[in-house]
Amino acid sequence: MKFFVDTADIDDIRALAATGMLDGVTTNPSLIKKAGKDFIPLIADICSVVDGPVSAEVAATDYETMIKEGRKLVSIADNVTVKVPLTPAGLRVCKELSDDGTMVNVTLCFNAAQAILAAKAGAAFISPFVGRLDDIAADGMNLISEIVTIYDNYPHWHTEILVASVRHPMHIVDSAMMGADVVTCPPDVIRKLYDHPLTEKGLDAFVEDWKKTGQSIL
Ligand code: E4P
Repeated sequence: MKFFVDTADIDDIRALAATGMLDGVTTNPSLIKKAGKDFIPLIADICSVVDGPVSAEVAATDYETMIKEGRKLVSIADNVTVKVPLTPAGLRVCKELSDDGTMVNVTLCFNAAQAILAAKAGAAFISPFVGRLDDIAADGMNLISEIVTIYDNYPHWHTEILVASVRHPMHIVDSAMMGADVVTCPPDVIRKLYDHPLTEKGLDAFVEDWKKTGQSIL
């Protein structure tokens, strides 16, 4: 399973890239606003730090403007993935850019029917938002299970399931159990994956006992 980070904070992206665990980045207009930097140069910076796909989202909602924005975003770097909303116009843009060989991430997916449309439009990624479904007392992870089942029925579809709106480590563990291709997570959720009190306690004991041996490996 691939790990993307869901942020436009270049410092967080650099730090996570240095771990060797990072396979890509997703951004959206709200994350760009939070970062407080100019969009195009920021995406160029992110693309220079991470080799894998970097999702940059169109701002318009009409077909004519979205397709122009998509083509401009693609010109920033080879690893830009154009992110479009799951609307009729967004899927039209997805089909056209995908046919030209551009990676497209279809965002704001909230049910399996929408995921079918994205696959038929040739999307490289479909982004179901699990946290936002959980927020309204629906079952976000059940949607992932449904999409995995559906996509498995059609091996010629190449759309990868990119679990988005991840809120906690169990969203990641459950995604892996279900066979999702990618999770995109806020930096703090990725950091939480490392934590276990028994790991910290056990390491403290090993460090103390090693000191008592009076030895050195180097
Ligand atoms: C996906 O690409 C989105 O950027 C993101 O996961 C949205 O998550 P949120 O619900 O935490 O805003």
